[in-house]
Amino acid sequence: MEIAGRVAIVTGGASGAGRAIALGLASRGAAGVVVSDVDADGAEQVAAEIEKAGARGLAVGTDVSRQEDINDLVMQCEAAFGPASLFFSNAGIIVVGGPEAADEAWSKIWAVNVQSHIYVSRAVLPGMLARGEGYLVITASAAGLLTQLGSAPYAVTKHAAVALAEWLSITYGDRGIRVSCLCPQAFTSNLLSTSVRELGGAPPLAGASGGSAQAAVDGVLTAEQVAKSALDAIGTEQFLILPHPEVATYERRRADDRERWLRGMRRMQARLADQA
Ligand SMILES: NC(=O)c1ccc[n+]([C@@H]2O[C@H](COP(=O)([O-])OP(=O)(O)OC[C@H]3O[C@@H](n4cnc5c(N)ncnc54)[C@H](O)[C@@H]3O)[C@@H](O)[C@H]2O)c1
Repeated sequence: MEIAGRVAIVTGGASGAGRAIALGLASRGAAGVVVSDVDADGAEQVAAEIEKAGARGLAVGTDVSRQEDINDLVMQCEAAFGPASLFFSNAGIIVVGGPEAADEAWSKIWAVNVQSHIYVSRAVLPGMLARGEGYLVITASAAGLLTQLGSAPYAVTKHAAVALAEWLSITYGDRGIRVSCLCPQAFTSNLLSTSVRELGGAPPLAGASGGSAQAAVDGVLTAEQVAKSALDAIGTEQFLILPHPEVATYERRRADDRERWLRGMRRMQARLADQA
């Protein structure tokens, strides 16, 4: 799909990958970019940057874990710019730990990292299907194809996000709906601090370094590099967007020999724990 002349919505647009995607959409000629974030002030700042660059930006305060907020976001976009052809469902958080993480934290990360994409699909698919076209980009993670050391809630919710994106692509791909799934490894952002804020300031971050070290094995990209991969992929309508191309090899190895892959991940975990 051509970005130029299209209306786009980006959730989690105040920071990190979402901010870079929103600014990139504007510089590639989008007709209007709606910057949505639970951090409404941050969204305002990004929308102002877009306007300053001569494009059309609108900020909307949205908690993606609430269907009403997503519905309102879609309505505000339609009122300002018309219906969105492109929806980047990008907001996400991380919770560190395993099954022992608090129920509230598991519920919160499920709502933000998975349920949000369901709310978005409900809100935009009927209109996109009626118009015969639309593009949904779900930000998951390489953790959704592999795993996230030290964070079961992140690995589980990102796998669910990938599964939903695949299902949407299979179910609606022949009816004009394009779906892509963005699966980066580490890139520079505010993910840890915004997650702490969203979780009420108190998630245990012990073990986070192991997970970050795993994600950073192939280098830490900038948010702008991740956004460039995502926006380039819109042109080719490629489903899986891998800013770190190595992830394709890891996924293949995992599928080829699961036992060997699990042993390798245990070894990596032990090595990173020794280095910590
Ligand atoms: N940073 C990484 O290394 C990395 C790697 C793989 C995938 N990701 C994914 O990339 C996406 C973007 O994260 P980022 O790394 O740019 O982090 P970030 O924290 O810089 O940006 C995420 C934005 O989402 C917003 N947000 C959080 N909860 C929200 C909610 N309930 N409603 C609306 N907005 C909410 C935050 O306010 C923030 O502005 C996430 O889905 C994340 O899981 C990040």
